[in-house]
Amino acid sequence: MAKLVIRGGRPLKGVVRVGGRKNSAVAVLPAALLASKGSSVIENLPDIRDVRVYLDILRHLGAEVEVLDEHSVRINATRALPRPVAYAVAKKMRATYYLVGALLARFGEAEIAMPGGCDIGLRPIDQHIKGLTALEAEVTVEAGVIKARAERLVGTTIYLDVVSVGATINIMLAASLAEGTTVLENAAREPHVVDLANYLNAMGARVVGAGTDVIKIRGAAELRGSPHAIIPDEIEAATYMIATVGTGGEVVVENVIPKHLEPITAKLREMGAEVIENGDWIKVRANGRPKAANIKTLPYPGFPTDAQQPMTALLAVAEGTSLVTETVWESRFRHVDELNRMGTNIRVEGRTAIVEGVEGLTGTSVAASDLRAGAALVVAGLIADGVTEIEGIEHIDRGYERIVEKLRGLGAELDREE
Ligand code: EPZ
Repeated sequence: MAKLVIRGGRPLKGVVRVGGRKNSAVAVLPAALLASKGSSVIENLPDIRDVRVYLDILRHLGAEVEVLDEHSVRINATRALPRPVAYAVAKKMRATYYLVGALLARFGEAEIAMPGGCDIGLRPIDQHIKGLTALEAEVTVEAGVIKARAERLVGTTIYLDVVSVGATINIMLAASLAEGTTVLENAAREPHVVDLANYLNAMGARVVGAGTDVIKIRGAAELRGSPHAIIPDEIEAATYMIATVGTGGEVVVENVIPKHLEPITAKLREMGAEVIENGDWIKVRANGRPKAANIKTLPYPGFPTDAQQPMTALLAVAEGTSLVTETVWESRFRHVDELNRMGTNIRVEGRTAIVEGVEGLTGTSVAASDLRAGAALVVAGLIADGVTEIEGIEHIDRGYERIVEKLRGLGAELDREE
């Protein structure tokens, strides 16, 4: 089994470039299936496992996928078909549920096994089903397979009971080829929702209001392929920023949109670090031992749940006691037991982790239970004295492009052992 071996205790120094946003890429790729004409060149795609799996799914559905270079592809979905997607494939990530909205819109039918993804508590899809049903589709879940069918999709007003990124995106995909206008209220405001809206608009849909909690989508009779560049991955950037502060380093993180990183930047400053934003880069400099801070995860523009786990690893070595409250996912604290093996003093009570800062961590063998738990252990391993061996790096590979090379470029000592 592959593992990451980190010899920690070295300050990160230098420049690192982040890739395209995973959670945007996995929405834009299924959106490419909506085009019955032309092709889409998608740029700034992160070279990660989730993207590679998605490209294979598009091929399985009959789309032509031409890899132009490691970060760009040309997709022609003119001859795509609504083939079923089996559990063996669908389980590889969460975002396979976007195929339901996309195939339903383009072909009037979809049959996709229930998705997989990180094990972070219950992950219902009731809001997806509610939205697609409101657009006049018939949606059932039978024996773990989502089946959706519609003679035609018809726009309407949909109010989401919970702010869901996935439901917002799935409804946008379906509504972009529906008759009339869909008004989506209490929508997610994440930048990847805006990124998808920009792509859909370039394809010929009319999406207004993405980035606010009311999105209006006027469906088009047909959509055509269009070029698109994925926005930068703010969670990858946040992970390097957090690791820089934890190791007492100084790093410039390139290819970011600083506005998207505001909740991270504000927290790191509160903890005493220096953060300078400039155009498309951010410079982070540690300023002694970080101070404790409280965080509460919330939908955008609140503190992102996906950065909670790496941030907890940093707070674990801060001066004082921090409270980390997870409001988005019911059990996103699986990293805590592993961190405690490295010497942290964290206890979880309900949805809050009480983090008593310790002065240092000690490397040992740990296992990543999910993607961002893996990121938290990498941060801890970089901070710790001695050797940290992290198992379960297939989770990390889902969302971090060439993490070993990028960290080595910052002076870290680590290897991947197969
Ligand atoms: C997306 O998941 C991301 N995944 C997650 O990132 C991220 O943590 C999450 O959004 C929140 O930002 C992808 O984009 C592929 P939600 P998603 O629907 O869309 C509840 C990572 O580390 N809910 O916004 O599945 C749900 O239980 C991953 O990159 C319902 O109740 O999340 C949760 O409490 C992990 N019913 C809340 O809403 C529904 O139908 C937010 O979930 C849907 C969701």
